[in-house]
Amino acid sequence: SLKYENITVENRGKVALVTLNRPKQLNALCSPLFKELNDAMENIQADSKIGAIVLTGSQKAFAAGADIKEMSTQTFIDNYKSNFIADWTKITTVRKPIIAAVNGFALGGGCELAMMCDIIYAGEEAKFGQPEIKLGTIPGAGGTQRFTNHIFSNTENRNFVFLKRLTHAVGKSKAMEMVLTGSLISAQEALSSGLVAKVFPSDKLVEEAVKTAEIISSYSNPIVMMCKEAVNKAFELSLNEGLHLERRLFHATFATADRKEGMSAFVEKRKAKFEDK
Ligand code: CAA
Repeated sequence: SLKYENITVENRGKVALVTLNRPKQLNALCSPLFKELNDAMENIQADSKIGAIVLTGSQKAFAAGADIKEMSTQTFIDNYKSNFIADWTKITTVRKPIIAAVNGFALGGGCELAMMCDIIYAGEEAKFGQPEIKLGTIPGAGGTQRFTNHIFSNTENRNFVFLKRLTHAVGKSKAMEMVLTGSLISAQEALSSGLVAKVFPSDKLVEEAVKTAEIISSYSNPIVMMCKEAVNKAFELSLNEGLHLERRLFHATFATADRKEGMSAFVEKRKAKFEDK
């Protein structure tokens, strides 16, 4: 943690708590911050003691977007050559689950960063938005792409095809309203549109996110990763391809000691002891 200037990393048992730490700039996402975040995520992915991650900001801002001061002098050629923002999506290659705990503003790239995580929890005062239109630009880190996808991510255990269509429609209208007007939505609106999984009092948010991350970390880490992989593939594959992949991953769990332990423990009426193998 000491080696970073723009973030802090703290281990809480099997949970890594990563905090964006440019509070005076409302955690504006400058390039050095993303370098550090990518580095931290790589280390956490490699650390076998960690099972899940919580990503948070300050009470006032999860992140108020890409750093406008840094961007203001960039040209098209600069951005094209450096493929500006391409490295932001590295966080989506982390295989352990990431919970975004959003207090305050999650705007532009900040909202996009939250959407790159697997679960979003919001504090009561959270505000989400894609206000790039006000700056004469558009979302560049997934805001036009991930909104609708995430809105249909709440469809587990229901009729997949039907809900996919329904929520795409709901998702599109809400997403268009947000990206075209730059208006912000509240935590409650984010909850009802499925962007956020739960809303908590602001001062309880991080500890609640850590609690959920602890539950996830208590399971078999390789099985958790397979589960995350399967859900994420739902956004990319056709229904039949997705079901096929899911079934094969399900079969693969039977090659693990933890699957055997989990089912044996149930049959023997005792608590399972997972060993990540
Ligand atoms: N970039 C750089 N600095 C930022 C910033 C950002 N995105 N957001 C806030 N700051 C800075 C402010 O410049 C200010 O710095 P100084 O004290 O040095 O002046 C400090 O953080 C505090 O901000 P405010 O004084 O503005 O705080 P406020 O409470 O009055 O307003 C706010 C809060 C409504 C969030 C306002 O700061 C704001 O509108 N921020 C910009 C939001 C935005 O447009 N985000 C999208 C960025 S573009 C993008 O993200 C592209 C993409 O898709 C990748």
